[in-house]
Amino acid sequence: TIANQNYRGSYHFSPKANWMNDPNGMVYFKGEYHLFYQYHPSGLTWGPMHWGHAVSRDLVSWEELDIALIPDQHGMIFSGSAVVDWHNTTGFFEEEPGLVAIFTHHAEGQQRPHAVQYQSLAYSKDQGRTWIKYEGNPVLRHETFVDFRDPKVFWHAPTSQWVMIVACGQSVCLYHSTNLKDWSLSSEFGEGIGFHGGVWECPDLFPLPVDGAEDQTKWVMLVSIGDHADYPEGSRTQYFTGDFDGRQFVPDVLSCEKIRWLDYGRDNYAGVSWSDVPEEDGRRLFIGWMSNWKYANMTPTEGWRGAMTLVRELALRTIEGEVKLAQQPAAELSAYRKPVLSLRSMTAEEMAEQLSGLRLESYEIEAELNASHSADIKVRVGEGHETIIGYRSVDSEIYIDRTRSGLIGFHDEFSGRHSASVSRGDGRIEVRIFVDRSSVEVFVNGGESVLTDLIYPGAAATGLSLAAEDCQLMIPVLRIYDLSV
Ligand code: FRU
Repeated sequence: TIANQNYRGSYHFSPKANWMNDPNGMVYFKGEYHLFYQYHPSGLTWGPMHWGHAVSRDLVSWEELDIALIPDQHGMIFSGSAVVDWHNTTGFFEEEPGLVAIFTHHAEGQQRPHAVQYQSLAYSKDQGRTWIKYEGNPVLRHETFVDFRDPKVFWHAPTSQWVMIVACGQSVCLYHSTNLKDWSLSSEFGEGIGFHGGVWECPDLFPLPVDGAEDQTKWVMLVSIGDHADYPEGSRTQYFTGDFDGRQFVPDVLSCEKIRWLDYGRDNYAGVSWSDVPEEDGRRLFIGWMSNWKYANMTPTEGWRGAMTLVRELALRTIEGEVKLAQQPAAELSAYRKPVLSLRSMTAEEMAEQLSGLRLESYEIEAELNASHSADIKVRVGEGHETIIGYRSVDSEIYIDRTRSGLIGFHDEFSGRHSASVSRGDGRIEVRIFVDRSSVEVFVNGGESVLTDLIYPGAAATGLSLAAEDCQLMIPVLRIYDLSV
């Protein structure tokens, strides 16, 4: 039975029942975006991992399908990726191209002193509806690492080979193959660079044009880092920019000098990008697990637990001389907008008055703020609850404050205020805020900074408001769109 679904997002993906963590095997094939995920089909906490499965044609509405991969004699099915084998490099597809999943098998140690993780294959000839595990599994082992998981595979056209990036301890290993079955080590990356406060997980590697210029490409590496008691931030994702020749990743100077985070909220983890998005589309689409290992098993939902972020388009943009990874919600979401309010050049006081009668649960706010004045937008207000999205001009920062957002007591470190610095550009700060039943995602200045946080407000906390240090301050733009589906 499906109990209280109140916190289940209206336009975010969650399975109807039970536990979900990482997104897996995202691939586009024959008009469908596939999303697989770490799934425990009979429990509300992490347990024997399967791959759950959902498909979408527009990246917003998802249809949940049957479980794709179940544990077997090699162990549980941990995270991994999927590709279209267009040229039958595997020999699995004599008639027409199909899907291959490359994932980690996790075996608890019985005769062995510890758990073992190795990489395996499964393939599908019916658009992901049913899967056959490869009889030669596992295809890749590691002699020394216990933590050896989350393979992300892509076709590297310049060298005509498959490339796998896979987490190994506190670094990543790169392998190459011509058939997805036989793999050779190319290089390792990670020692002495980046954040090492936890085990490295769920890497990804892909090229992106800088500022949209196709002749100027950089490679982006994503690496998620597991929770560690020493860090209040819990599990989070870092990124590096650099060059890649098919064998070795060489980081930019900037990536060596400082740690760069994908998201400044607490709830965007283990995210990777879609494979095989058609060239004419050209987007690099990303989705993350909207939770944090610090408290993921304790969040106050009933009958289900775990949601994904919005699908986001990634880009590299030069911001104040630095090439940064920017994120924007996939454009398809705009088709779901139902306009509620559109205000221009009004004082903060007048705008607050316009907002006072609104009751909304799942919506988008689009605002332009004056960069030299602080202002607060409050969402999911009521029953003594409020979540503040604040801009502080003295510090040039945006934050989400969830200290009074609703249910916070399920973990000591859930409550808090999470901030990101923002560039002031032309004197305006542009923000898009996506509020859903249990989440807030804030995209600042075209996604140059992003904050993603879970919240658990009371069911009647559907008010919204606006406040500025000076109530006569002119706010340039405020628009609201209902996004309830
Ligand atoms: C990341 C992760 C992966 C692993 C999976 C297990 O959240 O720990 O490294 O494959 O979850 O569910």
